[in-house]
Amino acid sequence: MNYDIKDPGLAPEGKKRIDWAEQDMPVLREVKKRFNKTKPLAGIKIAACLHVTSETANLMITLKAGGADTVLCASNPLSTQDDVAASLVVNEQIPVFAVNGEDNKTYFNHVNAALDLKPHITMDDGADLVSEIHKKRRELIKNVKAGTEETTTGVIRLKALAKQKKLTFPILAVNDAQTKHLFDNRYGTGQSTIDGIIRATNRLLAGSTFVVAGYGWCGKGVAMRARGLGANVIVTEINPVKALEARMDGFRVMPMMEAAPSSDFICTLTGNTEVVGAKVLMNIKDGCIISNSGHFNNEIDIGALDSMSKHKETVKNNVELYTLKDGRKVYLLGEGRLINLASAEGHPASVMDMSFANQALGAEYMLINAKKLARDVHVIPAEVDEEIARIKLRSLNVSIDALTARQKKYLESWEEGTE
Ligand code: ADE
Repeated sequence: MNYDIKDPGLAPEGKKRIDWAEQDMPVLREVKKRFNKTKPLAGIKIAACLHVTSETANLMITLKAGGADTVLCASNPLSTQDDVAASLVVNEQIPVFAVNGEDNKTYFNHVNAALDLKPHITMDDGADLVSEIHKKRRELIKNVKAGTEETTTGVIRLKALAKQKKLTFPILAVNDAQTKHLFDNRYGTGQSTIDGIIRATNRLLAGSTFVVAGYGWCGKGVAMRARGLGANVIVTEINPVKALEARMDGFRVMPMMEAAPSSDFICTLTGNTEVVGAKVLMNIKDGCIISNSGHFNNEIDIGALDSMSKHKETVKNNVELYTLKDGRKVYLLGEGRLINLASAEGHPASVMDMSFANQALGAEYMLINAKKLARDVHVIPAEVDEEIARIKLRSLNVSIDALTARQKKYLESWEEGTE
């Protein structure tokens, strides 16, 4: 078996971590049980480019239980948990190509090593597999039946590819399932981003001015949790509806240029580029701590930060001090990469449970339906989404009401109105 990981000797620690996560993944456990019996993925090759975490390990084990032949590479150079990678290789015989801290060249070598499996299904978090196939590995297109995509940024990239009529197989936007983005993006990112910032800095949020750039589901989660810790939260947006939503959720809303001079923390979660660029840096408060929790490391213009600085030094793990030419200090966390995975452990297993149940069931759904689906970006059927929510509720011992026959009929009718 071919693989590239840091150290197979880390496997016992990784196994413990994978088991710990599994305890909090009841939906995925249920999927695994069925997959073990019915083997819906028998003979199917799946290449996954995901954050190599204990939660992802449980997904890979589930796919293998379903009969799939799998390979895993990292979807971010800093998010790999090396002990988890070791356990997948040593204990599960699942090939992994991922080493925490790998450089860009190694990152793409690993993506290509995963693609060497000649997958029938691609499973992306950020669309690097699909992008690489379309740019450089076009000989693989004929084998691919379908792909799945985990994250908002990846879905945006793939929709752009589909819009140009260049997408060559159907994609399932796992991100767009309600049981994904309402929980993973909001509560997952909300908690893990704050966790990452605190683990890196151990700074007090209470009483600080905390700027959240972007009020999508991820930004909403971070704004909510920063407020919960006593920060004075400012939201910046480019979308008028989201800006209004933030305002009515009780946050101050203003342009980034106005927010920067008073910010103790800035965290970007926009999915866009140069959100903190040279102009913002010229206005930034002395001592500001900048981090990113959007998918790619382009939300903060690190090139501008470099060229505006006279000195740069690592003050502690994941904290880089930039001294600007006028003497102001700016701290950049985790090289501007996803701070929740670079400096913490990503989203808790309880939310990844639903995200990855969507991935596993989504792979099964795409396998059955790929032939009849357009080469476009699709959403998972509402019944699958609701089934995931039902299993999760059951695991939490929560029961809910059901519509009566009379209520069902009422919802399907239009005749009844004012009485
Ligand atoms: N994305 C965010 N958190 C994650 C986690 N714990 N595992 C995999 N992907 C993630």
